[in-house]
Amino acid sequence: MHFNAAHKLYNPAWSEEKNFEVFGKCANHNWHGHNFDIYVTVKGSPDEHTGFVMDLKRLKLILDEKVISKLDHNNLNIDVDFLNDVIPSIENIIIAIWDQLKDTLPEGVELHAIKLYETENQYAEYFG
Ligand code: NI
Repeated sequence: MHFNAAHKLYNPAWSEEKNFEVFGKCANHNWHGHNFDIYVTVKGSPDEHTGFVMDLKRLKLILDEKVISKLDHNNLNIDVDFLNDVIPSIENIIIAIWDQLKDTLPEGVELHAIKLYETENQYAEYFG
């Protein structure tokens, strides 16, 4: 799935100089945006009646409700309750998304991996 969002990388405990030294233009005050792509992989055994590990329509609904609707067209530093306490790097975003999703899947289905692309060359992959 896909979402667009703004953020900046900025540690309020540091001086402005140190923030720009570490994060470069990612620390710019007035934010910048990304077109994020998120890949969620679940694991389990195919159901004997459907052949599905999980109905993908249901996975899409869960992702929409728990993740996409909260992140899309928002500011990740300000607008997202489950990112309040972290610097919104792709690493921290993906861990927070995992925590949002881990208890929402049907019985017998487990979260296996989440991959989050910030740009075509930068992504994080998380296995819990
Ligand atoms: Ni960025």
